[in-house]
Amino acid sequence: MIMKKAYSLTALFCILVSLQIGAEPVHITIETTKPGPVINRDIYGQFAEHLGSGIYGGLWVGTNSSIPNTRGWRNDVVGALKDLHVPVVRWPGGCFADEYHWREGIGDPATRPIKVNTNWGGVTENNAVGTHEFFDLVDQLGAQAYVNGNLGSGTAQEMAEWLEYLTADQASSLAQLRAKNGHPTPFKVKYFAVGNEAWGCGGNMTVQHFTDLYNQYASFLKTPKENTPQFIAAGGHDDDTTWTDYLSMHIHEQWNMHFDAVSFHYYTLPSGIWDKKGQATGFHEDQWISTLKNTLRIDTLIKNNVAKLDKNDPQKKLAFDVDEWGTWYDVEPGTNPGFLFQKNTLRDAIVAALNFNIFHAHADRVRMTNIAQMVNVLQSMIVTDDAKMLLTPTYFAYQMYVPFQDATSLPVHMQHNPDYRLGKVSIPELSASAARAVNGKLLFSVVNTNPAKAADVVLDVTGNKFSGQLLTAKTMDALNTFENPNQVRPIPYSATVSNGKLALTLPPMSIVVLTEE
Ligand code: AHR
Repeated sequence: MIMKKAYSLTALFCILVSLQIGAEPVHITIETTKPGPVINRDIYGQFAEHLGSGIYGGLWVGTNSSIPNTRGWRNDVVGALKDLHVPVVRWPGGCFADEYHWREGIGDPATRPIKVNTNWGGVTENNAVGTHEFFDLVDQLGAQAYVNGNLGSGTAQEMAEWLEYLTADQASSLAQLRAKNGHPTPFKVKYFAVGNEAWGCGGNMTVQHFTDLYNQYASFLKTPKENTPQFIAAGGHDDDTTWTDYLSMHIHEQWNMHFDAVSFHYYTLPSGIWDKKGQATGFHEDQWISTLKNTLRIDTLIKNNVAKLDKNDPQKKLAFDVDEWGTWYDVEPGTNPGFLFQKNTLRDAIVAALNFNIFHAHADRVRMTNIAQMVNVLQSMIVTDDAKMLLTPTYFAYQMYVPFQDATSLPVHMQHNPDYRLGKVSIPELSASAARAVNGKLLFSVVNTNPAKAADVVLDVTGNKFSGQLLTAKTMDALNTFENPNQVRPIPYSATVSNGKLALTLPPMSIVVLTEE
């Protein structure tokens, strides 16, 4: 009897304590007087590879298509992407880049060679989209170009001549050929990568061998001074920091050779295992939390790589550009495994927002990223089916974060941020980021990772009212379909400041982005 009473009292105490903790809002302070680095708009970059229907069908339908298009590019898809203010597009790959020979993609499309895309599905590639078409796409989007050069199967001469073709402002034969093909003025190239995943599909090289090749190839990449891209060395991935360390120690700018950034790739797999990654839909909560935990790892991976850069490049000249990131699930049943098509749910939007908040926190080094990929491939913004198009939850995460482009980051501190736990796995319940927008207004985002519990938050802020959008859904794997395209959409959200405090309640599994009015 006494034992039972003691047990009940303990249980009661625990309940009271947990209610107390649960009732206490998370306190967020934004250090408005300590501005950090600018959040380069290019952090919101995209990636379009010759892979599956990422380009052909999804973006490019050709000029003779009945699908409305401008010089071959779909009007619906380009129009939707314009609303995201896409700052930069990486092309033509990926693994595809190291088998791409630029001369096969210029001139009369009818005479361009037909190749086999050996990396992605073994389908034919008719080179209908080449250099001029790509630059037309970035022009239509109002974006900048990130061209990925072929180090793996090309030559230093081929790479040098592509850059000359793109940028030469004198009457060289290659510049005249560009003019004959319809573009007398040079193309503007903002970024140029030498190779891709050189440790894997880009040539299975050691970092030492790649470094020698980078030094060799980059020595011949000559451009007019005012049209010199930022040159990116293909870097490492996941936990491996050797590439960042070795490249930043052994590539030295000399003899007009440039080196501006190291690239890095990290994909989020629910299981963390490539052979059995996990499903895009129909998953349980264990795969919700493991996916978010795996995506949050990128914070540590960036820190570890940045530590190498800080050692070798203390002046912070080099950028750390995450030019491939996003979720990668088991391929959708019934689709070509080489096309990497996967469904996109609320979980993907949360993944995107968590990554944005992390990129903001590392904005001094992370100056450009490219989600993989833009349309129909991996964690895409848009899915198409012939003439139909739908916007994914990831699309809306990008749209909500547009005000962060070129904003000045501000330090954020959270008190009482509880853990969201499932079994032995735990992650912080909330993730937050704040900035001073280009128009001078304060803005912030908060993400609630817990799929079962709302979160009360109090922010210390100035101003009267904050407004913006909230994204959530009823289920963890809620998605938009062609039949029901509005299942996951942001809704307007606003809150009024009272005595310098802004109180918010974030629904379970939600993203809020608010700007001072
Ligand atoms: O984004 C798909 C592929 O993933 C890219 O082609 C390659 O670089 C990476 O392994």
